[in-house]
Amino acid sequence: ADEALQAEFDARIAANQRVEPRDWMPEAYRRTLVRQVSQHAHSEIIGMQPEGDWIASAPSLRRKAILLAKVQDEAGHGLYLYAAAETLGVDRDDLTERLIEGRQKYSSIFNYPSLSYADVGVIGWLVDGAAICNQVPLCRTSFGPYARAMVRICKEESFHQRQGYELLMRMMEGTEGQRRMVQDAVDRWWWPSLMMFGPPDAESPNTQQSMTWGIKIDTNDDLRQRFVDMTVPQAERLGVTLPDPDLVWNAERGHHDFGTPDWDELKQVIKGDGPKNAERVSRRRAAHEKGAWVREAATAYARKQQEATV
Ligand code: 3HC
Repeated sequence: ADEALQAEFDARIAANQRVEPRDWMPEAYRRTLVRQVSQHAHSEIIGMQPEGDWIASAPSLRRKAILLAKVQDEAGHGLYLYAAAETLGVDRDDLTERLIEGRQKYSSIFNYPSLSYADVGVIGWLVDGAAICNQVPLCRTSFGPYARAMVRICKEESFHQRQGYELLMRMMEGTEGQRRMVQDAVDRWWWPSLMMFGPPDAESPNTQQSMTWGIKIDTNDDLRQRFVDMTVPQAERLGVTLPDPDLVWNAERGHHDFGTPDWDELKQVIKGDGPKNAERVSRRRAAHEKGAWVREAATAYARKQQEATV
């Protein structure tokens, strides 16, 4: 019977049909999805911290309102993704425990400090720009709930990228000091944004299997290349230089050649030794502990409601 179920699953994947929670799926497929979707959700929630630090210091009411909306969107992205993960039989409280205890990962990019207000623009432009490159293909990922969450997230992601780029355009039309702030932020966030796409394909243990299952549509290196090609003209229009002396258009390839990211740095950051890992996780733990009373109150209220209907 399992062979028939496996054959039906393989046919579904081969036909680019969606796998839904009630469909039979190989245990390894389910486990890979729990790993990727929950880590994606953790990334959205932790990702609120670098920009959240600047909400109180935004230079105008308009900028504060835009930044508030963007950070709130990230919380919503996390909730869409935890909901998608729960259709695989996991519980978001348990996933939060795994994050807080360092047993699950979140994106390396959020372990870097946001040192000036220009970082808010560069995070929107580069980090959300990289997220768009990575997430648009995931709208076609084989697991239904994940793909549908991606469609909603990508719509909001384009607002995130545009608001960041527009902020930088304004600053580049400002004073010399503002232009220097933007260039400094670009210098600090460029290479970590390239590392966000993951290790090189030759050192990516999950890519092959994830592509066979239609979970991953493109390889890490292909998406990284797509991001570089998309971003170079934007940097030129903005008037900033990207901090890579090897970055050059290669007419033969029809792509930009670029330098090699520091893969040891990525390993360090993924291991937990990045500049801000400890702070990001301890703030997430503190928020979870401070919110315990809300969960207890909601549970007590739900129990009372249930008793009232019995
Ligand atoms: N940060 C942290 N861990 C990373 C990483 C990164 N940038 N890149 C790779 N890893 C981890 C992987 O999770 C894997 O570890 P695991 O097996 O314990 O999970 C290991 O390094 C090997 O990497 P692989 O390439 O083999 O792993 P994957 O096939 O899972 O590819 C990925 C990694 C490309 C991040 C893929 O999981 C993915 O596409 N995930 C969904 C997208 C996502 O998570 N984006 C993160 C940013 S969230 C965001 O952009 C918010 C936006 O609104 C700003």
